[in-house]
Amino acid sequence: MAETDAVSFWDELTSPINLVLVFFILYLVYKIVKSHFESVEPAAPPPPPMPKLRKDMTVAELKKYDGTDAEGRVLLAVNGIIFDVTRGKRFYGPGGPYSAFAGKDATRGLATGQVAASDTEYDDVSDLSPDEVASAKEWEDQFKEKYDIVGRLLKPGETPTVYSEEDAEDKKSL
Ligand code: HEM
Repeated sequence: MAETDAVSFWDELTSPINLVLVFFILYLVYKIVKSHFESVEPAAPPPPPMPKLRKDMTVAELKKYDGTDAEGRVLLAVNGIIFDVTRGKRFYGPGGPYSAFAGKDATRGLATGQVAASDTEYDDVSDLSPDEVASAKEWEDQFKEKYDIVGRLLKPGETPTVYSEEDAEDKKSL
C-alpha cells in the first residue's frame, strides 16, 4: 500500500502541469537571486564643488552674486563680512523667501526684520538701535557657523586685501 502511495506521489509530481509549475518556481527563484547580485543603477554624480572664492568686494561687485548667473553662486554681507551662502540657495536663490538679500548687504534688513536690502550704496548702519545692532551680530555669528567667509564688504575708497592661496583655504577668518 505504502509503495502505491509513493508511486502515485511521484506520478503526481512529474505530471506535466506540476513540472511546468516547478520550472516556473525555479525560474522565479533564479530571477530573485539574480536581482540581488545585479548592481543598482549608479546615482547621478554630484555636481563638482564650486571653487572657493576669496575676495573683498564693493557693494556694486557683490551685486552680481545673486544666484541668477550660470555659476549660481550666492553671496550676501552682514556687518561688513561677505559670506558664501550658496549652500542655503533654497533660502536666498531666485524665488527663495530671502532672495532679496542675495548679492546684497543684508545687515539692515536682518537687524530690523525687513526682508529687503539696498544695493545702491554702502550703508554704514550707524543709525541702528542697540537692539538692532545685537540682532545683526547674532545673525553674523549664525552665518559664521554655517557659511564660508569670502571677504570684506569694502567701504567707499577702501582697498581690497590681496588674499594668498592659504587665506583662500582658511575660510573662517578675515
Ligand atoms: C513669519 C515670520 C518668519 C518665519 C515663519 C520664518 C521662518 C523661517 C524658517 C522656517 C527658516 C528655515 C530655517 C532652517 O531650515 O534652517 C527661516 C530661515 C531664515 N529666515 Fe526666516 N522666518 C520669518 C521671518 C524672517 C525675517 C523677518 C527675517 C529677516 C529679516 C528672516 C530671515 C531668515 C533667514 C536669513 C533665514 C535663513 C538662515 C540660513 O541661511 O540658515 N526670517 N525662516
